Amino acid sequence: AQTVSRDADGVVTVGGIPVTRIAEEYGTPAYVLDEADFRARARNWRTAFGADADVFYAGKAFLSRAVVRWLDEEGLNLDVCSGGELATALSAGMPADRIAFHGNNKSPEEIRRAVEAGVGRIVLDSFQEIVRVAHIARDLGRRQRVQIRVTVGVEAHTHEFIATAHEDQKFGIPLAGGQAAEAVRRALQLDGLELIGIHSHIGSQIFDMSGFEVAAHRVVGLLKDIRDEHGVELPEIDLGGGLGIAYTSDDDPREPHEIAKALTEIVTRECEAAKLRTPRISVEPGRAIVGPTAFTLYEVGTTKPLDGLRTYVSVDGGMSDNIRTALYDAEYSVALVSRSSDAEPMLVRVVGKHCESGDIVVKDAFLPADVAPGDLIAVPATGAYCRSMASNYNHALRPPVVAVRDGEARVIVRRETEEDLLRLDVG
Ligand code: LLP
Repeated sequence: AQTVSRDADGVVTVGGIPVTRIAEEYGTPAYVLDEADFRARARNWRTAFGADADVFYAGKAFLSRAVVRWLDEEGLNLDVCSGGELATALSAGMPADRIAFHGNNKSPEEIRRAVEAGVGRIVLDSFQEIVRVAHIARDLGRRQRVQIRVTVGVEAHTHEFIATAHEDQKFGIPLAGGQAAEAVRRALQLDGLELIGIHSHIGSQIFDMSGFEVAAHRVVGLLKDIRDEHGVELPEIDLGGGLGIAYTSDDDPREPHEIAKALTEIVTRECEAAKLRTPRISVEPGRAIVGPTAFTLYEVGTTKPLDGLRTYVSVDGGMSDNIRTALYDAEYSVALVSRSSDAEPMLVRVVGKHCESGDIVVKDAFLPADVAPGDLIAVPATGAYCRSMASNYNHALRPPVVAVRDGEARVIVRRETEEDLLRLDVG
């Protein structure tokens, strides 16, 4: 976990630095990311899966050049899903053959850049894309390594999963109705492509492994059909990301080694039953690596008690730096971090400064009743999908990401300025 503690004055310190100092030097709101924690989590995933498997960090959760370097140093691969993420990865020196390129509508230009760069795999998401990638690769005189993303009819979120016959969603090619088998047939015929495996991603914030079990069963079923029809055993399968983290104390996430063990066992068992060689497994955790490593530091601006209801605590950010509460009804906790307090806990709703009543950061939480303007509060577990989904709504300036490590802080993504905003404004 993050190296967080309180000093004698009640000020929370992270990575050896008091949050009050971070606020003074870098301002608020700010995402404060613990580099040692990030590296430890990345390494944990890497060692849990071992040399016979690959871990691709999902860059959509949070990507910057510093993060790419940490991943490279810790031996992880990288999943990107846009030309922008690809450019970030390459510019920070991630070897192209350790990059996987995803997306349900990659542009021809993006595909060309990925093939030219020599990415390790492109994950094909539609029939049209199979042909598109094959043509571009042939044009460039390449044979591109690809996987086909299939939808296995499993949708998993948190504690539940549903397995259905077909899935009504934009990603992947359904196994149902023989569509995935047809996609494989076509991919195997095209010289621009080297089909190396099948990909499946079943959802987000998952705690229950049974969804992966059904997914693995169905993917291995496809591998077996491919072997029977074409005499080819595809060497890889990717089971996607989606492993859950603790946003509040109600969540109980699984450790990487348990996940690695469970996934390896499921795939091995299914392959033995189908008399297939066990393929190389890969996974794509994003949230589970970066989510818990950062918190958002805000300054309280106003407090507004509403009799018999709750107190609204307004901070200097909001839905522009964390859209997840408004978008998914996500749950977060909050703590007073610039001092300790003996005051009674009081029911609060932490809201932002945007012109929208749905601009909520933490829906229901408790803070000491004496919380007041000028206090610093922190919302934990905002490392994933907060900076990466941040917006300029109301011309908010997107906050910096400050990395702390061994008593030192440094900015890895700087705060936006008004000049940054105005630079795009023409005329
Ligand atoms: N692989 C694929 C193909 C994915 O689509 C995703 C996430 C991941 C890996 C990483 O999933 P993770 O391990 O981070 O859960 N914005 C939403 C999450 C969208 C996830 C989309 N795909 C959120 O804030 O919860």
